[in-house]
Amino acid sequence: MTRASRAVPAAVGAVAAVAAVAVHDVVQRKHALLRNFPVIGRARVLIEAIGPELRQYVVAGNNEERPFTRDQRRWVYASAKKENNYFGFGTDNDVEYTAGFPVINHRTFGRAVPPSSPAAGYEVQLPCAKVLGAARGRAAAFRPASVVNISAMSFGSLSGNAVEALNRGAGLADCLHNTGEGGLSPHHRHGGELIFQIGTAYFGCRDEHGRFSLDKLKAVVASAPVRAVEIKLSQGAKPGLGGLLPAAKVSSDIAATRGIPAGQDCISPSRHAEFSDTDSLLEWVELLAAETGLPVGIKSAVGDLVFWDELTTLMAETGRGVDFVTIDGGEGGTGAAPLIFTDSVSLPFQLGFSRGYAKFAERGLQEQVVFIGAGKLGLSDNAVVAFALGCDMVNVAREAMLAIGCVQAQKCHTDTCPTGVATQKAWLARGLDPQLKSVRAATYIKTLRRDLVKVAQACGVEHPGLIDSSSVEILNGRTASTPLHEVYGYQPGWGLPSPTDQDDIIGLMRAREPQGGTAPPSPTAVD
Ligand SMILES: Cc1cc2nc3c(=O)[nH]c(=O)nc-3n(C[C@H](O)[C@H](O)[C@H](O)COP(=O)(O)O)c2cc1C
Ligand code: SF4
Repeated sequence: MTRASRAVPAAVGAVAAVAAVAVHDVVQRKHALLRNFPVIGRARVLIEAIGPELRQYVVAGNNEERPFTRDQRRWVYASAKKENNYFGFGTDNDVEYTAGFPVINHRTFGRAVPPSSPAAGYEVQLPCAKVLGAARGRAAAFRPASVVNISAMSFGSLSGNAVEALNRGAGLADCLHNTGEGGLSPHHRHGGELIFQIGTAYFGCRDEHGRFSLDKLKAVVASAPVRAVEIKLSQGAKPGLGGLLPAAKVSSDIAATRGIPAGQDCISPSRHAEFSDTDSLLEWVELLAAETGLPVGIKSAVGDLVFWDELTTLMAETGRGVDFVTIDGGEGGTGAAPLIFTDSVSLPFQLGFSRGYAKFAERGLQEQVVFIGAGKLGLSDNAVVAFALGCDMVNVAREAMLAIGCVQAQKCHTDTCPTGVATQKAWLARGLDPQLKSVRAATYIKTLRRDLVKVAQACGVEHPGLIDSSSVEILNGRTASTPLHEVYGYQPGWGLPSPTDQDDIIGLMRAREPQGGTAPPSPTAVD
């Protein structure tokens, strides 16, 4: 046999092998990237495998990429798969020299005694320390079952499969799933309980002229497990800005969900038409709460403080009020926004939240409102600082996207998301298997809750909502630090639930999470 004649069967064999791999990749459901990009998608797996070695010499460090560093993404991916999410050999953060680094003060002898098994806390329920809507006597007041919930992201910015994965994940993790401002779609109806968000375009609750319709709102919230209503005033990544979904993306599914014509540009105005100032906003809140029976809250980024002054003054003087406030940090995410808005408009979470919270606390209202935070709070260290500042719950958006397969390609605004998370292209969305990814979303949320319980116990308390601002300090470099309450001007007691709510949550946690787990004391132990 000549060399040329030997080459032909070898080439045929190679092509057949590649074809077999391609068929396998297209048929399998585990990896969205491989389903959409058979064979070539494997290059990512290879590069990921040798990434740490390559990076040491040529690419970014573990803590350099943004919005989420490689370490942070690795932690989310491993947590979502219930793999080993520990890090070896100690921190690679420059703790000694980085100003602004938060440090949590553990207690040697605390009230809570952590169980010793590493798996402890994993399945524990971590309910909110406050009952949502109780302070204003809303008919459907309830205690949210989870302090970690899925943040607002519309069907439209996310694919139907991504929304379904998140909703199923919310059901599995027993947490709440915020619909986002794009209405309540069929993809939101897979078992997860919902917060219905109302944006400026009143999608899902508008009439044929684009006006808000109370009847439609009542019908939509009654048609699904909606537990609360959130009025969106702004979001951190693009406050004060309207939005436009181009005609090409307005599919018949999206049109039906939003209550708009298919195939035409879909505009969200920058302001609400149903109210024009803080007083009329509160009137509207009370109307929606009375008509639906549900707790009603607002979502906003923080900039100018006049609104917060007015809101809290009116609440204190008139008795009308919001049941919850979701504060979004300027570092928050979006499907698409101009760079100046994502980078520079509205305060980052810690500054914005503490200023907003202080307005409530100065008027003695903080115990009557459930505070929800968002802005990279799906990372345990950020979440702990948020709880210490007075958050009762945290919302996770992009971290949940990472959990269901997002690789931070940052192409959400181009409709070419390679993992099927943020696209309306059916062939790309097809790669995302909602059943499989729902488990990832739920596992990530449970792991974050487990971390929060463990940190709380290390601080000597039973629940992250009981970590107070004196348990955290902010490093000013190698030689000095400032307690969190001093950094943000907090008074004693700020950031904690009322004494009654504290007693209730301690009782609930003690009943759910066994304490201790070490060997019993020896006969010579000192009491
Ligand atoms: C793709 C995408 C879509 C979003 N859509 C909405 C929305 O409809 N309504 C809203 O209030 N916030 C929206 N947000 C903001 C998030 O709910 C959240 O507040 C923000 O991303 C901060 O959370 P994170 O840092 O965990 O991502 C969106 C964010 C992303 C990434
Ligand atoms: S993979 Fe990229 S385009 Fe897709 S959701 Fe993530 S960041 Fe957006």
